[in-house]
Amino acid sequence: MIPDHIMIGDSSSHLNRYLSENNYSKICILVDENTHSNCLKKIEGDINFDYDIFKIDSGEEEKNLATCSKVWNFLTENLYDRKSLIINLGGGVICDMGGFVASTFKRGVDFVNIPTTLLAQVDASVGGKLGIDFNTYKNQIGIFKIPNLIIVDTKFLSSLSERELRSGYAEVIKHCLIKDATKFKEITKINWKDNNWEEIVRHSILIKSEVVENDLTEEGLRKILNFGHTIGHAIETTYLEKKNKFFHGEAIAIGMICESYISFHKKMLSENELNTISGYILSVFKSNKIEYHEEILKNAKHDKKNFNKKIMISLLEEVGKCNFDFEVSEDEIKKSIEYYNKLIS
Ligand SMILES: NC(=O)c1ccc[n+]([C@@H]2O[C@H](COP(=O)([O-])OP(=O)(O)OC[C@H]3O[C@@H](n4cnc5c(N)ncnc54)[C@H](O)[C@@H]3O)[C@@H](O)[C@H]2O)c1
Ligand SMILES: [Zn+2]
Repeated sequence: MIPDHIMIGDSSSHLNRYLSENNYSKICILVDENTHSNCLKKIEGDINFDYDIFKIDSGEEEKNLATCSKVWNFLTENLYDRKSLIINLGGGVICDMGGFVASTFKRGVDFVNIPTTLLAQVDASVGGKLGIDFNTYKNQIGIFKIPNLIIVDTKFLSSLSERELRSGYAEVIKHCLIKDATKFKEITKINWKDNNWEEIVRHSILIKSEVVENDLTEEGLRKILNFGHTIGHAIETTYLEKKNKFFHGEAIAIGMICESYISFHKKMLSENELNTISGYILSVFKSNKIEYHEEILKNAKHDKKNFNKKIMISLLEEVGKCNFDFEVSEDEIKKSIEYYNKLIS
């Protein structure tokens, strides 16, 4: 079941209803310049309550303590009290950071997340992970806290670039692969751009909610959401300093192909299933050869899911069924990247 605090549909009416049921002393909408111009304008005329707007610069580089300080300063100077509300209107950066800012301001004020990218709608919206980057470490400082309300409105997706939308779609594919073989089959039959986004978002949220429901703090089952992410993250990190950076989902797409190959190599997935998965992912994401194998391996060894210096990974037992804590060798990782490179050459 989709939890009660997640509303999918028209954001203005859900927001107005929530605001009229709760008596907030002050309301601040946190945006970046892109969600200010593309998203706030879609709802501002419909909100029946007074609010301030606080705008920060967009980008992962802004997801840090300095930006939090700016927001805390604004709230302090404008006499926000414990009965105030923060509304985070934006992608994963705004929702993660704004939620963190709200949860720590005066030991916690209420907050509503309105995710506006596909990635934030299908992934960051569920599971209560909030936080910021610190020094060079991603999401190093943060907490688990469920927002008071999450409103998911797919009308915001129309202003996203195709590259951004496609990147978020990697998580949709992941949700199908780990939990829903029928849905995976269904999405492979149409052009990815023709998806009914509201239906897709609902499906992904349902799957992620079910997975995190019994494992909020990632002791076990939640690890299956990391499918594609051990190698995908390592690729993303390795390429951060190179000329051609990957978007998160683009790296995860390659990671899912590599990790499906390892699932096949460990005699879990059939060759046929491997071909179907790789073929579909490549039909959505076209990419270049992967280089820097050694750096990728080094980064995979630093993955936080590892245990006792062993690389631990989540793998597919079949399409629609994923399990966690498989040990994987360096050689298997190398072979999987070679498999990917061969596929696209
Ligand atoms: N909390 C979680 O469980 C979780 C899960 C996955 C990712 N994340 C986090 O999410 C972040 C990535 O999220 P993201 O991809 O949404 O990045 P983002 O928030 O940086 O948004 C990507 C870009 O799109 C712009 N944008 C947002 N909505 C738009 C819209 N509707 N139209 C036009 N432009 C728009 C933003 O301004 C930004 O430039 C990372 O920091 C990651 O750590 C968190
Ligand atoms: Zn991801």
